[in-house]
Amino acid sequence: MDATLRPGRPEDANTCGAICYEAFKAIASQHNFPPDFPSREAGVELLSMLLAHPGFYGVVAEVEGRIVGSNFLDERSTIAGLGPITVDPSVQNSGVGRRLMEALLDRAAQRSLPGVRLVQAAYHMRSLSLYAKLGFAIREPLALMQGAPLQATIPGYAVRQASEEDLAACNRVCTHIHGHDRSGELLNAITQATATVVEHDGRITGYATAVGFFAHAVGEGNDELKALLGAATAYLGPGFLLPTRNTELFRWCLEHGLRVGQVMTLMSTGLYNEPAGAYLPSFSTDSSGACPRLNGWRTCWEVGVRAVGHEDQAEQRSFVEGLSTPSGTRLLHLTELWSRRPPVSARASLPLSEAAETTVCDARSAMRAWVTGVEALEDEPPQRLAL
Ligand SMILES: CC(C)(COP(=O)(O)OP(=O)(O)OC[C@H]1O[C@@H](n2cnc3c(N)ncnc32)[C@H](O)[C@@H]1OP(=O)(O)O)[C@@H](O)C(=O)NCCC(=O)NCCS
Repeated sequence: MDATLRPGRPEDANTCGAICYEAFKAIASQHNFPPDFPSREAGVELLSMLLAHPGFYGVVAEVEGRIVGSNFLDERSTIAGLGPITVDPSVQNSGVGRRLMEALLDRAAQRSLPGVRLVQAAYHMRSLSLYAKLGFAIREPLALMQGAPLQATIPGYAVRQASEEDLAACNRVCTHIHGHDRSGELLNAITQATATVVEHDGRITGYATAVGFFAHAVGEGNDELKALLGAATAYLGPGFLLPTRNTELFRWCLEHGLRVGQVMTLMSTGLYNEPAGAYLPSFSTDSSGACPRLNGWRTCWEVGVRAVGHEDQAEQRSFVEGLSTPSGTRLLHLTELWSRRPPVSARASLPLSEAAETTVCDARSAMRAWVTGVEALEDEPPQRLAL
């Protein structure tokens, strides 16, 4: 189908919101699931927010001047979140969805975003296949947990509302677990007063932007997540997403009366670190796949480092070459150097290291190293990188 794509505008909200509601409802009812959105208005409300939010980029597809679908990229943090993507049921399965996906992967590549992630409804064969063909890898099975707030406390794990002063500590926990922070989303949640932190042994060891479908949480262990879940007074949206491979937490939730609403899949392309702690992902926005559109990061044991705040290429090079791991080993193999402006694509080769765990030392002040991508050789296990 010959669709034209353009950036989304706030005035598209009514039509896109209605399509969003109808598209999800159609596929859900085919599988005897309740609709994802309780009403058309709820769809319009969500899309109004997304189309007006400066942190989200929306793309709209039109056929003969009529809007037939939309898709969104959450650009607030290091790793972008994709979705919701919806296509009018009357024109589904004719290529519009693929175009909407490709447009946002192009956008992510243009903006040098290191990775894109999404959450997919496991029963939806079409979206699963489409995303896989576009380079997304399956990362985690998820359960959408539903039920009444638990009202549980975990001794030694105190939960309180988060404030901006907590941002750095929270980002540290997230970076430890995911290898990158989710600062933009967290700051948004702090501003909206939905974010909470959990303190243990006198320090912040976890946080939640809220407990809900569009919110994420991280903790050094399951006790942190139990405390955050136990303190939540409501679950925003249709429930919260729980990685079911976290058997202990999954059982704990089930034993506390929560039920599984549906099974979903976390998929990602680009930079992905196997999480090193407990976490709850959010619907559209936590997360290497061979994505041709993210070629900048399609490297084998190669690491790209962006030297933020250095306009000068020589300065960048000397800064990056000065980076070393705590053990004194150099980065594996530095292939690309990016600057914000003008785009620089310099090459700098550093000695290869066999290090399984490479940590880029945290540069001070404005000189902040940002690991932008790593992908394992196909027959090698993935490696973790952290700032
Ligand atoms: C998911 C959705 C956006 C896809 O859009 P679409 O326009 O229907 O999809 P397209 O026609 O562009 O692409 C579908 C692809 O899946 C393939 N496909 C469909 N069913 C398949 C199956 N059972 N097995 C393997 N491949 C399948 C098609 O062949 C096509 O691949 P191609 O692009 O390589 O030819 C759309 O169906 C939709 O709005 N669904 C309801 C809302 C939803 O579920 N959104 C996604 C939330 S995770």
